[in-house]
Amino acid sequence: MAGQAKRNEYLDANFDRMVGYLQEWLAIPSISTLPEHRKDVQQAAQWVVERLTAIGFPETTLISTAGHPLVYGQWQVDKQQPTLLIYGHYDVQPVDPLPQWSSPPFQPTLRDGNIYCRGASDDKGQIMLVLAALEAWARVDATLPVNVKILLEGEEEAGGAAVADYVLNHPEALHADAVLICDTHMVNAEQPSIITGLRGILYTEIAVTGAKTDLHSGSYGGVAPNPLHALCLLISRLKGEDGGINIPQLAAAIPPPTPIEKQFWQDDPLHIKEDLLAEMGVNKMVGEVAYPPLERIGLRPTLEVHGIRGGFTGEGCKTVIPARAVAKVSMRLPANLDPRKVFNWLEEAVLSNMPAGYTVNLTNMHAGKGVSVNPDNPYIRAAAEAVEATFGSLPVFMREGGSIPIAALFAEVLQVPIVLMGFGLPDDTIHAPNEKFSLSQFRKGMKTVADFLGRIRRP
Ligand code: BES
Ligand code: MN
Ligand code: MN
Repeated sequence: MAGQAKRNEYLDANFDRMVGYLQEWLAIPSISTLPEHRKDVQQAAQWVVERLTAIGFPETTLISTAGHPLVYGQWQVDKQQPTLLIYGHYDVQPVDPLPQWSSPPFQPTLRDGNIYCRGASDDKGQIMLVLAALEAWARVDATLPVNVKILLEGEEEAGGAAVADYVLNHPEALHADAVLICDTHMVNAEQPSIITGLRGILYTEIAVTGAKTDLHSGSYGGVAPNPLHALCLLISRLKGEDGGINIPQLAAAIPPPTPIEKQFWQDDPLHIKEDLLAEMGVNKMVGEVAYPPLERIGLRPTLEVHGIRGGFTGEGCKTVIPARAVAKVSMRLPANLDPRKVFNWLEEAVLSNMPAGYTVNLTNMHAGKGVSVNPDNPYIRAAAEAVEATFGSLPVFMREGGSIPIAALFAEVLQVPIVLMGFGLPDDTIHAPNEKFSLSQFRKGMKTVADFLGRIRRP
């Protein structure tokens, strides 16, 4: 039996054990953005250190940082072989709104062919399938086909800077011939995809202050500044009902798509528009109608308000004019744009659109550049072949709207191909209630990654 057939057999035979590992890991609530979960994040890091050691990684370390720890593993097998750097994140998003979960968010539950848990798809499940692929090589072939470095971070979902600091300070240690990231989606279970572009992100907080204290809305209503209302005005001026963003510098800074890409977006041969409507459970899209939906997600900039805090939101009624209100506002940006530059543009736009009578302050919470990869290289070709071997159809190359900030830095610092080969499905509801990962994707993902590793080995 050929090598890959044996590894596939190993992965099938040990599948339940892999699911069991994933369940153990998922049960650790490693929510990076909430300080009360600091110990859990640490524990999730420790868990994966132990798993890497059990697989046979000779060097595995927990690297402490100012924030959450990094996990680093290295297995040097042969100087003649290429080195693959694998990246993933073991932290997860918060779980609210809790009442909407059908099973507790940190009680991994197997139901209709899926595993439900926060982090199942984003990204523990996708890291676990890589670990399974590595284990298959280690047990079936007693070694890995190529040199592997694995770097896992614990603050991707919180916009943390630890991994970026590490990459910038240790470029030689991370030297590799390609980077593999399994943290994206396919088009659907039948149509695999390899991602060639991710948008950048700029996450801000807009704080507006009016009076020196909260006020009675009867005694002062009519003359008092209301920061909540001012924020609503500001936000509606920054982005109109037509989805257009009112930042004058932006229009000229958006790169034109390639003709092939434009055609793909316009024709939408995979009917992704219908999928998007179904996933959202709506019958109409909002936003820039002049652009096809795929272009709006893949390339166009966005401005979204995530939450507004201020005033009274409890049960019952309270007649108060708040003294202060805060909005969380982020922008998605095409890959060529430096989010820090856009921060200055946004700041100008905020100041010039702010109604009179208020103090406003814009804070840059975090910023990460997008990434755009040229698929014409041996590593992405090997990925496409491995995907085809397991899924039975060639992947499409396409952009996705989400962000993986460290991908851009890898591309810049290491100057090597970034392989964005993810196995999530669009209905995994990552970041939302009832996040799940399909067990069949989990199984196929393991086999694809194992096959990919074999294909990038030099003869
Ligand atoms: N895995 C996602 C990114 C993603 C989502 C890529 C969907 C492709 C499709 C990642 O974990 C993520 O959520 N990133 C954050 C980054 C932010 C917090 C800096 C994002 O996109 O909001
Ligand atoms: Mn992710
Ligand atoms: Mn995420």
